[in-house]
Amino acid sequence: MSTQRKLYVAVLYGGRSGEHEVSLQSAASVLRNLDPERFVVLPIAIDKDGRWHPGDVSRIEKGARLLPVFRDQPQVVLPPNPQPQSGAMLVPLGNSALTGAGLPLPQIDVVFPVLHGTFCEDGTLQGLLELADVPYVGCGVLASAIGMDKEITKRLAGLAGIPVVPSLVVHGRTYAHQAAALPGEVARQLGYPCFVKPSGSGSSVGVHKVKRPEDLDAAIRDALRFDRKVLVEQAIDAREIEVAVLEDLDPTGAPLCSIPGEINPRHEFYSYQAKYLDENGAELLVPASLSAEQAQEVRSLAGLAFSTLGCEGLARVDFFLDRHSGKFYFNEVNTLPGFTSVSMYPKLWEASGIPYQELLSRLIDLALHRAAEKKTLLHDFQSL
Ligand SMILES: Nc1ncnc2c1ncn2[C@@H]1O[C@H](COP(=O)(O)OP(=O)(O)OP(=O)(O)O)[C@@H](O)[C@H]1O
Ligand SMILES: [Mg+2]
Repeated sequence: MSTQRKLYVAVLYGGRSGEHEVSLQSAASVLRNLDPERFVVLPIAIDKDGRWHPGDVSRIEKGARLLPVFRDQPQVVLPPNPQPQSGAMLVPLGNSALTGAGLPLPQIDVVFPVLHGTFCEDGTLQGLLELADVPYVGCGVLASAIGMDKEITKRLAGLAGIPVVPSLVVHGRTYAHQAAALPGEVARQLGYPCFVKPSGSGSSVGVHKVKRPEDLDAAIRDALRFDRKVLVEQAIDAREIEVAVLEDLDPTGAPLCSIPGEINPRHEFYSYQAKYLDENGAELLVPASLSAEQAQEVRSLAGLAFSTLGCEGLARVDFFLDRHSGKFYFNEVNTLPGFTSVSMYPKLWEASGIPYQELLSRLIDLALHRAAEKKTLLHDFQSL
């Protein structure tokens, strides 16, 4: 038995995003599976208004499918830490001393963000954690921000030679001047049907399949409600193939790529409805039925995308496999993928030989290694 003290892991969940509810499920699963021999869990809910509330593990029902948000707990904040030797610590907001119903707030050794979408996996939260000088699981600020911007992601992937679906970019600022000519432009460059999607959204919110030029404008206007930048993409008649990627604990090792899985939506495409509202909206197939060559090709593209985009820790890399040409197109990277016990990311690792609990331990170890490595970096000029 190890004599090392257990590490305090702050599991952040909820969040100010459209994927708040999914996060409550992902976090319940993470809490159930973190190794009790190594870790003490401190659940911290972020409510839909962005307020942080520490939770109490003893008030969470055993086997709960969803974590509650403890709104009766005093609000806390994670301040920028001017004294790194004292470690990161939550502090009560304002004058609300943590007495009575309040919880003791231990020093945090590592943060596990189990959140998805805007303000969660887009680099903003990661920036806060950097300022607080606390180790955290997953991608850093840059890769998180890149991964949230589908246009920048595609540009970088394309530069690395990873095939991406042809697309046009529309900016809210200038759309009015383009609107009349765009349907014809799309017909010439991409053809119909096409897909319209906000560059920086998720969960298929604001994503439209547009079959006729006369429907393009309404789709773009809707997508512009969610982001100021919108992509119009050629529609691919595709199978949707996903690969889970995990950084190697050996820093000289290439990223580890799982066996590929497949999402088979039972709707016209993998819409918000298919993802979250219809229990039988999609079938998850693990492994995907691919030839050995195809599986190898998509795994190596996933590893290349992970490295190209500067990912760290974990990411799920999603592809389209064109049913006609047999060509793979990189679609997007998810830097904090769903983590429920039936989610694709943990399922793919389970099937590739890394059980859920070990996966969580590895991710935390990776976070600690990165933090230790970054501690050795200089932040100001020192003469040699
Ligand atoms: N070019 C395309 N051709 C065919 N289908 C597409 C295309 N773009 C999007 N789709 C369909 O729409 C779904 C959602 O699009 P996409 O994955 O780009 O955004 P998102 O799912 O909102 O992002 P996230 O996965 O980060 O939540 C895809 O899973 C797929 O079913
Ligand atoms: Mg997607």
